[in-house]
Amino acid sequence: MINDSKQRYGSVSKFLHWGMALLVIWQLLKFGDRITEGEHWVGQTLVPFHISIGSLILVLIVVRLFWAASQRGQRPEQDPAMATLVKAGHGLLYLGLFLMPVTGMLFMVGNGYGVSAFGVDIFAKGDEIAWAATLGQLHSPLAWALTALIVGHIGMALIHHFVKRDDTLKRML
Ligand code: HEM
Ligand code: HEM
Repeated sequence: MINDSKQRYGSVSKFLHWGMALLVIWQLLKFGDRITEGEHWVGQTLVPFHISIGSLILVLIVVRLFWAASQRGQRPEQDPAMATLVKAGHGLLYLGLFLMPVTGMLFMVGNGYGVSAFGVDIFAKGDEIAWAATLGQLHSPLAWALTALIVGHIGMALIHHFVKRDDTLKRML
């Protein structure tokens, strides 16, 4: 089933969720640059794709927002006692996935490096732009906040599955 239903997420939502989860975790490996300045296997093989994958995430989050809007009213329902909190949590995850690539690009453009993804120039190298560089400094604090949110999100998914023993995780699998 392509579309979502009240009982479970459909194939498009699942593909976007798990595909992007993988890409986001890949992106978080960039924290590894803090260990011996990235001079290790992860830093040399996976992290060099940071800008390309980050740019792909920006495209995917826009697709995902349109998809989520098209599925409104036919997605699995939340426990009414927790619904507002769950919606806020998922909303913040969406916001994080949007702001991460945007601030990453502001960092690069602001410092005059330009942005190219998968070998295609998106923004050319040029002069430094002070306001963009300043906003780009939010990239790292936002990465920490997103990481905390993701840890909480995964923790809740596991609590639903192993402690509450409900079908919250199953409907996304
Ligand atoms: C969802 C997408 C993204 C995530 C989750 C992400 C995550 C991260 C993380 C975890 C760090 C390390 C921060 C630290 O050690 O404090 C980082 C650094 C960095 N990211 Fe991203 N990133 C994303 C997208 C992008 C994009 C699209 C670009 C550029 C176009 C970019 C450019 C950078 C740069 C230049 C740094 C180094 C910043 C510095 O040295 O202060 N990122 N990112
Ligand atoms: C790592 C990055 C992740 C992000 C950014 C993320 C984001 C999201 C978002 C935005 C939703 C709301 C539904 C949607 O729009 O697709 C969602 C739902 C869900 N996620 Fe994640 N997720 C991540 C990883 C995980 C992992 C690793 C698990 C499992 C351990 C998980 C389990 C779930 C479950 C079970 C739901 C459905 C919740 C419900 O219907 O109440 N997620 N996720």
